[in-house]
Amino acid sequence: MINTWSYKEEYKLIRKKILKTIDKTLSSGNIFFGKEIQQFERNFSKYNNFKYGVAVGSGTDALHISLLALGIGHGDEVITVSNTAIATISAIVSTGATPRFIDVDNNYLIDFKKIPKKISKKTKAIIPVHLYGQSCQIDEICKIAKKFNLKVVEDCAQAQGAKFKNKYIGTFGDMACFSFYPTKILGAYGDGGFVGTNNKSLYEKIRQIRFYGIDQINKKNKFYKKYYANIHGVNSRIDEIQCAILNLKLPYVASNIKKRQRIAKIYNKELKETNLILPKENKHNKHSYHLFVVYHKNRKLIFKHLKKHKIFLSIQYPYPVHKMNGYKKYNKNLISLPMSEKLSTGIFSLPIYPTLKDSEILGFIKILKKIIKSI
Ligand SMILES: Cc1ncc(COP(=O)(O)O)c(C=O)c1O
Repeated sequence: MINTWSYKEEYKLIRKKILKTIDKTLSSGNIFFGKEIQQFERNFSKYNNFKYGVAVGSGTDALHISLLALGIGHGDEVITVSNTAIATISAIVSTGATPRFIDVDNNYLIDFKKIPKKISKKTKAIIPVHLYGQSCQIDEICKIAKKFNLKVVEDCAQAQGAKFKNKYIGTFGDMACFSFYPTKILGAYGDGGFVGTNNKSLYEKIRQIRFYGIDQINKKNKFYKKYYANIHGVNSRIDEIQCAILNLKLPYVASNIKKRQRIAKIYNKELKETNLILPKENKHNKHSYHLFVVYHKNRKLIFKHLKKHKIFLSIQYPYPVHKMNGYKKYNKNLISLPMSEKLSTGIFSLPIYPTLKDSEILGFIKILKKIIKSI
């Protein structure tokens, strides 16, 4: 029976290649900062149309390091959403800056019309989150940023390969941040992240911040001095094995997205007559369907019935970040975000990953439809 994603299905298919890659990498003598990272930074930048790219330890680090490279810290504010992974907010708070929350629209993405009202003298940047695999209204967001002299750091962790008006997401703002957490569209077999940019001076800062403020990769580089920090940095190394695995898997991204889009089509066709609220695809978007998120006001009951069939679905996300103990102090004036709060009570994610078989999808749909009809 259908289940939530496990890397084991994919691993069965590419086991020999993965083991060969790991062996070759370990035999090279470099655990960090060898050929694989350089190759991956070139490959992933080329795929996404970035002039420059820096591979880092995780998606959270990618966001944190990007904000540090912009000089964002104590006393500054960064505008983003609450309907996102905790990581987006955690990265802002780690710099010392304060997150300012905006509600989401009918696509569950940042409602750009609400941004101008949230801008203060302290605002330095906007982090639009391309959630679930779908682009925000990124052209409008960049227009607002330009008008108010703000930086845009795109959170692309869930939307590799997604496009807005035929252009890859991540190529609109000042920097684009990706995650290679194993469940992602391009997933490592461990943690990993990436910052892409077309700005050379930001690129040079990011490379140094990644490794204690030293630029380690290219020893001929103008910044390189052993054990010498040019600027304040962190440790966000990504190892050679992860980069080698990512190099191996990158060529499959396009076909995997097609498989995800095909599954989304099946769900849309088979579930359109039910009272589930299905995801809306913006007309300018190419959705890469990292997740297929639906809404039903009786989620609890649906989950109870699914449990009887040993089906356990996930919720991205069950709590809006501005309501969490760890972050509610940043919700100045205790504003309410009605759409984000409502969503958290009824959204859930249907299984969508490339190794799913048609028989599994159709079997699952049959059960789900029966449950919805009965409640
Ligand atoms: C929207 C979003 N931003 C950031 C991250 C952080 O990525 P990582 O888990 O690699 O730190 C994630 C990962 O879950 C995410 O979904």
